Amino acid sequence: MIRTKILGLGSHVPDRVVTNEEIPYLDEQHVRQDTIQTETNDAWIQQRTGIKARRYVPNDGSVATSDLAALAAKKAIADAGIEPSDIDCIILGTLSPDFHFPGTAVLVQKKLGIDRTSCACFDIRQQCSAFVYGMQMADAFVRTGMYKRILLIGAELHSHSLDFTTRGRDVMVLFGDGAGAMVLGPSESDDPRTGIVYTSAHADGTGAMDLYLKIFEIQKLPYVGYNAKSREENEIIYPKMDGKRVFLNAVRGMVMSTQAALAKTGLSWDDIQWFVPHQANLRINEKVVEVAKIPPEKVLNTIEFYGNTTAATVPLTIDYWRQQGKVKRGDRILSSVFGSGFTWGAAIFTF
Ligand code: COA
Repeated sequence: MIRTKILGLGSHVPDRVVTNEEIPYLDEQHVRQDTIQTETNDAWIQQRTGIKARRYVPNDGSVATSDLAALAAKKAIADAGIEPSDIDCIILGTLSPDFHFPGTAVLVQKKLGIDRTSCACFDIRQQCSAFVYGMQMADAFVRTGMYKRILLIGAELHSHSLDFTTRGRDVMVLFGDGAGAMVLGPSESDDPRTGIVYTSAHADGTGAMDLYLKIFEIQKLPYVGYNAKSREENEIIYPKMDGKRVFLNAVRGMVMSTQAALAKTGLSWDDIQWFVPHQANLRINEKVVEVAKIPPEKVLNTIEFYGNTTAATVPLTIDYWRQQGKVKRGDRILSSVFGSGFTWGAAIFTF
């Protein structure tokens, strides 16, 4: 039986580090001003979220989501020991695509110079759950023999669509830019405890308007109706969130999917080296660890210094801790995620 294996991993974050101390002084061009632009502070952000800093792309218009994605993808392809031309499918998760259409995966294909005749490109829209959703898709494609070298990418450029005023502070302080990628392909091994062992994907559309970014409403004429210069009218171009509902549902979804992953595979924490939760808020992850009784020494986070990079958090966190020497080839990882939609899920895989 064909099984799916992770062949390579890579990630990329922009150089600019934006600390909590700097956040209140940034204007909408990300330029530090002398006076406070947003009423927030380091103590509030750290206490509620655990975040100390995040990364932003340059503010000169030189970097798009597809650029972050391509940089992470190149590293994953090199790590897999293959060439870009070997990739026969790209699955890209993002909520910050370069354009409304076409999807961003085709732009990454072009940037990687992948042959136009032999590579399928998918954009998926599961926000913070996209990497686990994408892993489930990739696993199904590999197992059926449909594709043999799948590039799975999570990439986000959040910093350009955040509201740098007190109105948007609840969301703005959480998010950062970055990308992570994996190459997946068929494995020789028949061992059900190696490669992609398990994936689950869930959704509850009744939570759709608890975390959303509209930008336009297609049922209206004109479908884009805001004045960018008017504070009141431009609200539609920024994300909106009911933080408490998101927090409660995230804990519930991540705990349930983590427990189900273990129950359905018959694995225990003795069999798992690392728990890599989505990085939305350190407090969410601490609650999930407490309720699901996860050994705290097995938990890997990066939220403190990368913030929430949505579709990128899982590969970014694994790659960061690999570079620090913690995660090693062959380690078994349980990852659980939750995001806008609501969407959530879990995966168990050996790296
Ligand atoms: N800095 C300072 N004060 C802030 C703030 C900020 N960045 N954001 C909100 N506040 C204020 C609020 O205006 C409110 O003020 P008030 O009491 O005067 O009305 C106060 O802090 C409490 O706000 P509240 O929304 O009740 O805080 P909270 O304890 O729910 O924490 C979040 C807010 C966003 C940190 C929290 O709800 C959360 O993390 N939710 C999950 C978010 C998430 O993970 N999203 C991504 C999911 S994939």
